[in-house]
Amino acid sequence: MEKGENTPGEQGEACSACGAGEAKHEPEATFAAVRARMKNVKHKIAIMSGKGGVGKTTVSVNLALALANKGYKVGLLDADVTAPNVAKMLGIANPELFATPAGLFPPEAKGVKVISMAFLADENQAIIWRGPVIMGVIEQFLSDIVWGELDYLLIDLPPGTGDEALSIMQLIPDLDGIITVTTPQEVAVLDTRRSIDMARVMRIPVIGVIENMSGFACPSCGEVTEIFRSGGGEKVAEELGVPLLGSIPIDPRIAEAGDSGEPFIATNEGAAKEAFEAIVEKVEEAVKKRAAEKERELSSLFKE
Ligand SMILES: Nc1ncnc2c1ncn2[C@@H]1O[C@H](COP(=O)(O)OP(=O)(O)OP(=O)(O)O)[C@@H](O)[C@H]1O
Ligand SMILES: [Mg+2]
Ligand SMILES: [Zn+2]
Repeated sequence: MEKGENTPGEQGEACSACGAGEAKHEPEATFAAVRARMKNVKHKIAIMSGKGGVGKTTVSVNLALALANKGYKVGLLDADVTAPNVAKMLGIANPELFATPAGLFPPEAKGVKVISMAFLADENQAIIWRGPVIMGVIEQFLSDIVWGELDYLLIDLPPGTGDEALSIMQLIPDLDGIITVTTPQEVAVLDTRRSIDMARVMRIPVIGVIENMSGFACPSCGEVTEIFRSGGGEKVAEELGVPLLGSIPIDPRIAEAGDSGEPFIATNEGAAKEAFEAIVEKVEEAVKKRAAEKERELSSLFKE
């Protein structure tokens, strides 16, 4: 992760995105580096939410694993730079990192390639950075990590519509889309709308909404009991004009799994696992549909 690699030296303007001040580099070089890395990644999907703690990281980790279980090559980028916890949920605390002139190789856990600030920063030290530095880190994650060939790269974002989300949307040339995670309460609709509005402004497709913590799945008998008014996720999706990808119930084993570093779907059965698997199928359909649309658009361009 050498910042100087793409630095053209005196000629370049100081980049507002990299912010480090010491290095001058051309944004064009960054875009080219990101494009080169992302060329071999078929589908890139960012996971967002309006509010914190709704389950983005849980969803990202379990979807990544579900995709890997289906035989896809999967990467997971922890774009929550100041509060990274993907690594903990996947049970990789202090992996050995291989930094080479070609870039940094992401460690692999349970068939998923992962990169997280947790690998690079002291876990006990609070990470307090200004926006430009955060954007610089995201930039490096996208340009310096040797992902190799991937079918899916999932990107776990912090809550809200801040610098991390903006960097991801600006830098990744053909983001397949965003998935927003919400909880069933009424207020969550408003918060979800902000993420969707941001995607629309940035011309990024919205793959859909996932309603998490929807009802309670009893870990002993498996029955799902509604806690909040049911159908909240459907209502959100309808109001915002985006697909509902699925509803995941509260299952205490999900929280335990997150803490133990053994992703939930790896070792459990039940309604929540079925929900994750159904969501994966919807995501596969969505990216396939979009790829077909893109192809049609391209071929119609060449006909004219
Ligand atoms: N369906 C669920 N059932 C039970 N616990 C859950 C469920 N989804 C998430 N959790 C738990 O809720 C907590 C918050 O989840 P998580 O960290 O995934 O949210 P987040 O949206 O990524 O949070 P942040 O905004 O801080 O990044 C975790 O302890 C997680 O294990
Ligand atoms: Mg998170
Ligand atoms: Zn029960």
